[in-house]
Amino acid sequence: MITIKSQAELDIMRRANRLVAQVLADVARRAAPGVTTASLDQRAEEMARAAGAEPAFKGYHGYPYALCCSVNEQVVHGFPSQRPLQEGDILSVDFGVVLDGFYGDAALTVGIGRVSHEARDLMDTTRRSLEAAIAQAKPGNRLGDISAAVQRVAEAGGYSVVRQFVGHGIGRAMHEDPQVPNYGVPGRGVKLKPGMVLAIEPMVNAGDFEVTVLDDGWTAVTVDGKLSAHFEHTVAVTENGPQVLSLP
Ligand code: MF3
Ligand code: CO
Repeated sequence: MITIKSQAELDIMRRANRLVAQVLADVARRAAPGVTTASLDQRAEEMARAAGAEPAFKGYHGYPYALCCSVNEQVVHGFPSQRPLQEGDILSVDFGVVLDGFYGDAALTVGIGRVSHEARDLMDTTRRSLEAAIAQAKPGNRLGDISAAVQRVAEAGGYSVVRQFVGHGIGRAMHEDPQVPNYGVPGRGVKLKPGMVLAIEPMVNAGDFEVTVLDDGWTAVTVDGKLSAHFEHTVAVTENGPQVLSLP
C-alpha cells in the first residue's frame, strides 16, 4: 500500500529532510584527508539530537551507527571507522532521521581532496542520474519512468546500476511501498499521484553491477573492486511536479 501524505504531513517531512540535508552538508564540508569517518558519524548524531530528532539508522535491523560511510569500492552501508580518509578517496555518506514521527533520508558522494577524473565523472554522472529521475516524479508518470531515467543516464555514461538495493517510499516508516529500482522500463509500474513521497537513490558502479556484502553483515562492496557512487533525495510528488524535500 502506497501512503498519500497530506499537506501538513509533507510540511513535517520537509523539516525532517531539511535536517538530513543540513547534516550531510556539514559532513561533506568536514570530509578531508586525515579525518576519520567515525568523527563524522559522531557529528551527524549530535546535530540530529540537538535538533530534536533521532538518527534513523542506528539500531535499524541492528545497524550500529547513525551514518553510513562507504569509501571507494564500498557501495552502501559502510561502517564509520577510525581509518583516516585519504586524498583521492570518494566517500558516500547516507543519513536518516525521524522527526515528529516522520522519516528523512538522503545521501551524497564527495571527493576527498583531489580525486581522479574517473572518480569525478562517476560522481557527476550519478548525481545527474538522480536529477533526471527526480524530473520524472510527477503526477501521471509511472514508477518505471523514474527507474528508467536513472538507468539511462548511468549507462550512457558507461557505468552500471546496482540491482541488489533499491530506493523506496518513505513516511511514518523509513521503508514504505513502493520499491524504487534504479533500472526499469518507461511507462511501466504504478502511476504516480500527488502526496506520494519517494526516496530515490541511484547506486552506480564504475564497473560491473555485481555487489557482495562483507562478513560484518552490512558493508556492500563491488565484486570487481571498482568505485561506486551513491546519491539520494527524498522527493514528494505534487500537483506542481516533483518537490525535493531533502534540501538544506
Ligand atoms: N538510505 C538507506 C536506505 O534507505 C539507508 C539505510 S541504512 C540502515 O535503505 F542501516 F538503516 F539500514
Ligand atoms: Co534510502
